[in-house]
Amino acid sequence: MASVLDSIILPSTTVRTEESLAVAEAAAEGLSAKHKYLPCWLFYDAAGSMLFEKITRLPEYYLTSCEHAIFARHASEMIAVATGLGEQPMSVVELGAGSASKTLVLLRTLMARQARTLYVPVDVSEAALKLASKNVHAALPAIEVQPICSEFTREKSLNLPIEGRRLALYIGSSIGNFGPADAVELLQWLRSQLLPGDALLLGTDMVKNPASLLAAYNDSAGITAQFNKNVLTRLNRELGADFAANAFEHRAIWNVSESRIEMHLDSKRNQTVHVESLHRTFGFKRGESIHTENCYKFTPEAVEDMLLKGGYILEQSWYDEDRWFGVHGARVVDAAIMPRNEEVAAA
Ligand code: AVI
Repeated sequence: MASVLDSIILPSTTVRTEESLAVAEAAAEGLSAKHKYLPCWLFYDAAGSMLFEKITRLPEYYLTSCEHAIFARHASEMIAVATGLGEQPMSVVELGAGSASKTLVLLRTLMARQARTLYVPVDVSEAALKLASKNVHAALPAIEVQPICSEFTREKSLNLPIEGRRLALYIGSSIGNFGPADAVELLQWLRSQLLPGDALLLGTDMVKNPASLLAAYNDSAGITAQFNKNVLTRLNRELGADFAANAFEHRAIWNVSESRIEMHLDSKRNQTVHVESLHRTFGFKRGESIHTENCYKFTPEAVEDMLLKGGYILEQSWYDEDRWFGVHGARVVDAAIMPRNEEVAAA
């Protein structure tokens, strides 16, 4: 069957790679939907990644500073829970490594316990991996770094180096950008890369007062608005679209029944947008939205339930003073003693 990809003509400045085709496919699917949407991974081109780094330093975006404080305060306990009673050396695998700044404190603690430590940052972005490796090497010259460049939500196997026990890190509330079923699927996939007894540290943003949640996604400097609109600029550049970014408005709402912040781009007027590569024109009514991101917020019970469905037993959670953010230490369970998903759902 002919797919939308067969007829795509990318601008001459865009190299036809798996990623550029994925961008075209995502735009075709999302902009033709009844309720228009774009997947949030489209945010992270070079400009979007820089804007996200800026977001993490905003006073309203408490997530990063809270998580940092949790790591600074509880790294030794985290390592103790992760290593358990075992004497085997532990290597650290980090999904979506970014700049690895929060990981340093954990690695330092681990290195005090064992002579040789292996750190495996996994990221789609080569640039992010280079930065993570450089930062870690500069701070901890004795550490061994083996980066893996992979789009881990699609990749079958990471072929992780097997050396003693593994501690997987999925921090920064990244799990919150997946819907509940996809989050469980991702945790199950990660579990399939690990062995029973290996450990996971998962960072989640917690449910809190809506005003603070909304402020984090509606900052007064307008950086989150720029980050949101950058997706349109990306489609202009990579697919030859003609979005006028200022004809759309950034909107963040708290959807209490779904327990998530939603980000939208609302059309300020009736307009059409042509996307050259797709040979398609899309109409927008005034006020019509493109749903660009979901950021799920968790209760402690929801975290435990998600981990269980993913194949892990929660051992301990650490929070900042206000319990705004949580880092959860969990153990990979042997499949043989795992309750089946239907049993978990019925419990
Ligand atoms: C990457 N992720 C955890 C961020 C979040 O808070 O969901 C992305 C973000 N979107 C808007 N601001 C930050």
